[in-house]
Amino acid sequence: MKVLVLLSVFWLPGILGQISNKKFPESFQFGAATAAYQIEGAWDEDGKGESMWDRFIHEDPDRVKDRQNADIACDSYHKWREDIELLKELGVTLYRFSVSWPRILPNGTPNKINQAGIDHYKTFIKALKEAGIEPIVTLYHWDLPQHLLELGGWLNEQIADYFGEYARIAFKNFGDDVKIWATINEPKSTCLIGYGAGDSPPGLKLVADGVYQCAKVQLLAHAKAYHIYDDEFRAQQGGRISLVLDTTYNEPASDSDADKFGAELETEFNLGWYANPVYIGDWPELMKTRIANRSRQEGYSFSRLPEFTAEQLKYVNGTFDYFGLNMYTGLTAQYTGEFDIGEPNYYLDKGTSTSHGADWTPSTVSWLYSYPVGMRKLLNLVWNKYNPGTIYVTENGWASDGSLNDQGRIDYLQAYLSNLLDAILEDGVNVAGYTTWSLMDNFEWTEGYTQKFGIIHVDFDSPNRTRTFKESGRWYQKVVATRCLIDSCDE
Ligand code: NOJ
Repeated sequence: MKVLVLLSVFWLPGILGQISNKKFPESFQFGAATAAYQIEGAWDEDGKGESMWDRFIHEDPDRVKDRQNADIACDSYHKWREDIELLKELGVTLYRFSVSWPRILPNGTPNKINQAGIDHYKTFIKALKEAGIEPIVTLYHWDLPQHLLELGGWLNEQIADYFGEYARIAFKNFGDDVKIWATINEPKSTCLIGYGAGDSPPGLKLVADGVYQCAKVQLLAHAKAYHIYDDEFRAQQGGRISLVLDTTYNEPASDSDADKFGAELETEFNLGWYANPVYIGDWPELMKTRIANRSRQEGYSFSRLPEFTAEQLKYVNGTFDYFGLNMYTGLTAQYTGEFDIGEPNYYLDKGTSTSHGADWTPSTVSWLYSYPVGMRKLLNLVWNKYNPGTIYVTENGWASDGSLNDQGRIDYLQAYLSNLLDAILEDGVNVAGYTTWSLMDNFEWTEGYTQKFGIIHVDFDSPNRTRTFKESGRWYQKVVATRCLIDSCDE
């Protein structure tokens, strides 16, 4: 009995996920994240070109849940000074935002540069630095110039060359002040949603082959930008550059070997798909063999997963200076056994079915459940498998109805940050910084303004787009100031 009482006092809180009473290391950087299309607005102002998202939504407003668009969004193109004030008030030292490719190259091509766009970001970055905030600049957060979409978008390998041209212009103009670059945000989402489900531009349902070609082209584009930085700018500018990958942490649905295999498949077909070529070299073995086998049975004489040439393999491998990780949630995975050969499809290639743990807390968004320990497990996985040297958690956050009283978001952030801290202090994972998604409520793609991820509220009914701290914003501000997730930490 005594033993049981002792156990419950000293062990249970740990097992149930007690919040760490330790402080974040002084070197750890807190921040917030956004993306150009989701906050800037000014979609056709001062010489900006049209992005594929502008076209996709203007062409058919029904593509967005609330029939809204991002023409104004948070109006950050005009209200950027206010955004910097918010960041200062939060006390953060990192701000991850993206440059809009068509704002600086209206057609996406290097022959026509929009100086007003360059000036805008130059001024913004300078002001950030003056405020003591270090920019993490994402070059591509989904707003491809419409012209390049017409050229074949992410199915055309030539887009990698255009991305390189764009990246060079960004390095040249902003690189004296930007020391952390992210080339491409969540390439998996671009490929699976835009080229598989067809729910985002270009709205193609090429789930047999387009999704794989899209992955290859994005990886080549990332590598191109990396090498341009390496060859032409690194010596002088001394920054770091990588890409941002998103994944769930996947738990086997049971202890069975089959479900363990299911979780492995789920991870390889989502994270490994992009991480392997960059951090290890080539697609994951599991993907290569499975897709090649199924392709053969389907009547192809080659694999639907396009091979890298030996030269491309070398070109892509090692193109990282850190690991940019977006992690929101977990999945439970099962191996379904091999699906019958029929219509070729990425999901049949993968051979899993997924769900959520019965005790995981749901958010207002179908895909997002709170699974905080997944953060610690994933950080360990990334650290041990990919040896990235440094990890930044470039996105993580919670969706709610937008009210200022958002205890659910506080609970989520506190538990995730506690697991992140455990990964650093207990497991020795080098996580250098965290940029929460998002600084403020914004345009959530085809969900419009129905899903609110901000720690700061934005009034989209007011022409001023008034910003107001939510309770989670105040809570985060305190965490940043004290480096502590509870009322008082061990000194
Ligand atoms: C991932 C994306 O990078 C971002 O644009 C999006 O708003 C958030 N996750 C939330 O879904």
